[in-house]
Amino acid sequence: MDAEPQGWIVEAVPEGVDPSVPNVARMYDYYLGGKDSFAADRAAAEQILQLFPDTRHAALENRAFLRRAVRHLVDAGVDQIVDLGAGLPTQGNTHEIAPRARVVYVDYDAVVCAHGRALLAGGENVSMLQADLRKPDELLERLAGLVDLDRPTAFLMLGVLHFVPDEEAYEVVRRLREATPAGCHLVVSHAIDAKPDTTPEALEIYRKATAALHLRTPEEIARFFDGFELLAPGLVHLRDWRPDPDLDDSAGVVSIGYGGVGRKL
Ligand SMILES: C[S@@+](CC[C@H](N)C(=O)[O-])C[C@H]1O[C@@H](n2cnc3c(N)ncnc32)[C@H](O)[C@@H]1O
Repeated sequence: MDAEPQGWIVEAVPEGVDPSVPNVARMYDYYLGGKDSFAADRAAAEQILQLFPDTRHAALENRAFLRRAVRHLVDAGVDQIVDLGAGLPTQGNTHEIAPRARVVYVDYDAVVCAHGRALLAGGENVSMLQADLRKPDELLERLAGLVDLDRPTAFLMLGVLHFVPDEEAYEVVRRLREATPAGCHLVVSHAIDAKPDTTPEALEIYRKATAALHLRTPEEIARFFDGFELLAPGLVHLRDWRPDPDLDDSAGVVSIGYGGVGRKL
């Protein structure tokens, strides 16, 4: 590993983790100002920030959207939340916004899961599951032991479906929808192609990371909500989803995320 600048948290590298390959969870943590990254993650993230300086704001905007959406779920009486592609623990985690709900964090990344388990140790109503959402059968089987899938559940898929290519991403959402009753919620945020002149370079950086990026148009993102009623204001730029000045400081920033909240009919 490269010499680490002062202030970075340097830990033993978990078994099976190659710190020389930029990791999408740790790159995102770096955008958010976190300290859980290795040199290769930061170098790739800096390349992205050179191409698209608003990435940092976009990540913060995404977290602000998560907080507003989860607050809505709580107000709507949802008490089971599955946060898929949860990422490294950061400020304003789902279980902190919905302390009375049963929360299951899911991620396929070993480092994310290790940090999640350490953070959540002792918490009765919250768990961390290492699973790949591209394997919906296995995912549903393991979730069934942690939440009651016969009762309304909310699935958060923030900043994760753009790491799943083509129809595979729609298939995962379809399987979750079919496995759950009316009244379930789906929350999605997804990157769009906001700066086409630099997109090929950005995609190349992610192609060399642990997961390639698959940008979709707003119309393609809307397809994830097939079978769901999109709640007002619909599928919009993240900062336009029920804005709350107390929770969001992203005004004036180029928005690269689209998102919405749907309720199963
Ligand atoms: C950009 S982070 C988003 C974190 C968080 N959901 C948020 O929006 O702030 C994407 C996360 O998705 C995870 N991820 C990507 N592909 C996945 C998959 N197939 N199964 C489970 N997790 C996945 C990554 O490990 C990473 O932690």
